[in-house]
Amino acid sequence: MARRIILDCDPGIDDSVALSIALFHKSLDVVAITAVEGNVPAELATKNVQTVVEQLDPPRLPRIGVATRNDNSDYRDACFIHGRDGLGEVGFVMAGHHQRHQSEKILCDEVRAAPGEIDIVCLGPLTNVARAIQRDPHFIENVGEIVMMGGSFNGIGNITQTAEFNIHCDPESAREVFHAPIKKTLIPLDITSQVQFSLSFIDQLPEESTSVGSFLRNVLPYLFRSYHQQLGQETVQIHDAIALLQLLEPELFELEAWAGDVEVKGQLTRGMTVFEKRQGRKTSHNLEVARVVDASAARQAVIKYLNR
Ligand code: RIB
Ligand code: CA
Repeated sequence: MARRIILDCDPGIDDSVALSIALFHKSLDVVAITAVEGNVPAELATKNVQTVVEQLDPPRLPRIGVATRNDNSDYRDACFIHGRDGLGEVGFVMAGHHQRHQSEKILCDEVRAAPGEIDIVCLGPLTNVARAIQRDPHFIENVGEIVMMGGSFNGIGNITQTAEFNIHCDPESAREVFHAPIKKTLIPLDITSQVQFSLSFIDQLPEESTSVGSFLRNVLPYLFRSYHQQLGQETVQIHDAIALLQLLEPELFELEAWAGDVEVKGQLTRGMTVFEKRQGRKTSHNLEVARVVDASAARQAVIKYLNR
């Protein structure tokens, strides 16, 4: 029986790699893809989810949720990494434009219709999940578990010195989700950043004649250029694909139970994830956090799943 999931994401090139795996993996049933404002503003996030699904042309079409603007006054996008259009400025033309529902409504409707059966994989900011919790008092008891790419256990950020991008986009929503009594697994930046991909990754993609191979050969070069030009790095990180691996090959990760929180104030620390690391404290654990990853095996697994 395939594991039923909703992918909440902000494509975004690394989100697109995760979608390229999830939409074709026989052990996953992607019930819906709910767009969230993050790497790109809300309207473009929704458009990009539809564009990626059209380009990949998967065997089963998921429902698509519409992203809405988050309430964070200091939100800023990551187009400097993913391109002005969020998909490497390839210039994809989106075919259809269908009537869609807001992401939080789809999250609530699908979870309510299948209590305990649907897990949510969050590959972007936590705005939609927080809004689903606020929208439906039964959401918390009906959702399966939440797997999130976000935060940083060691306190080193990527969008600021202390904050990881997904959390920084909407700290208040992240804090609400961190404190929700739901089974949560966090795959933080210090883990996903250990898995580095060199330019040889492009040669290891599926054939150009496949939808995944054609799509990723189009979008990935931009990521290598932006990591080189913006970050001075010759390899790239594909954070969301690594987070997705936690569902497919959990044995690649070592998880630990921690008490985690999100700083919502602080000139230098807004969006920072903070963990109770003092010895002997009795703070109750609210998160399973990935603390170790087999980086080499994870890299090989991404290549393996893309080529399935
Ligand atoms: O910090 C990395 C995360 O932020 C990834 O999910 C990337 O897509 C961006 O959303
Ligand atoms: Ca993302």
